[in-house]
Amino acid sequence: MYLIFGASGGLGLALAQHASARGDTVVAVSRSGRPEAFTGEWIQVQGYEPEHMQPVLQAIEGQTLTGVISALGILHTNNFMPEKRIEDLSAEALEQTYYVNAVLPMLLLQALKSKLPTNSPCVWVQLSAKVGSITDNYLGGWYSYRASKAALNMLLKTAAIELKRTHKQLTIAAIHPGTTDTELSKPFQRRLPADKLYTPELSAERIWQVIENLEPEQSGQLFHWDGKQLPY
Ligand SMILES: NC(=O)c1ccc[n+]([C@@H]2O[C@H](COP(=O)([O-])OP(=O)(O)OC[C@H]3O[C@@H](n4cnc5c(N)ncnc54)[C@H](OP(=O)(O)O)[C@@H]3O)[C@@H](O)[C@H]2O)c1
Repeated sequence: MYLIFGASGGLGLALAQHASARGDTVVAVSRSGRPEAFTGEWIQVQGYEPEHMQPVLQAIEGQTLTGVISALGILHTNNFMPEKRIEDLSAEALEQTYYVNAVLPMLLLQALKSKLPTNSPCVWVQLSAKVGSITDNYLGGWYSYRASKAALNMLLKTAAIELKRTHKQLTIAAIHPGTTDTELSKPFQRRLPADKLYTPELSAERIWQVIENLEPEQSGQLFHWDGKQLPY
């Protein structure tokens, strides 16, 4: 059984639909109501903080989790866009982006830790981004988003080290989906060559392929959508 958080987003919904269509049991979780495009189990939550997780914990009670996939993430809001220069920095953008991209995914892991199987294979996947790679940062800009994803990657790696001791068949992975046609990437699509902007369906198919090939020895790593490991 897969739990998918952030299921109303472009990638979250495509990931849930893909798994559901191939016959996996999926519980989709979102702050929004179930869209017509998804017919499986859908839980609407008020937020992703621990105090809102009761309905999720109830829904998975007695079931064995094979994976938890989180598609949470922000790049821009009505109040801010990614920074081009230092003058664009604001405490609001830095804090909010860090909160959604790094803090909430870890609160999810904390809230669900006791439900992760200790004696059967399981994956914990959070969508991350290649621009969060410190090694790979040649272009600069997008301070808040880059830093929040770098922090996320560090938090996931740290959790992977801790949980390796108790959850030997668990793989924690950060996956870069590639630039996908969703609300998140919309303002930045104009200058992209058409073959570099992927549909949510294609990205979901690729992400699932990466997930299916994950091994516990790889826990704590960041992966490109083609399955290759990316440097942190
Ligand atoms: N699209 C791309 O080109 C691209 C590239 C690299 C990485 N990514 C990563 O892929 C993931 C999914 O992105 P997407 O393209 O599918 O974006 P999206 O369509 O904008 O979906 C964003 C998701 O984040 C959740 N979310 C947004 N604001 C939130 C808030 N304030 N509090 C809690 N949750 C919030 C939403 O959950 P609800 O269902 O609850 O609304 C939704 O699932 C993100 O982590 C993103 O950084 C995307």
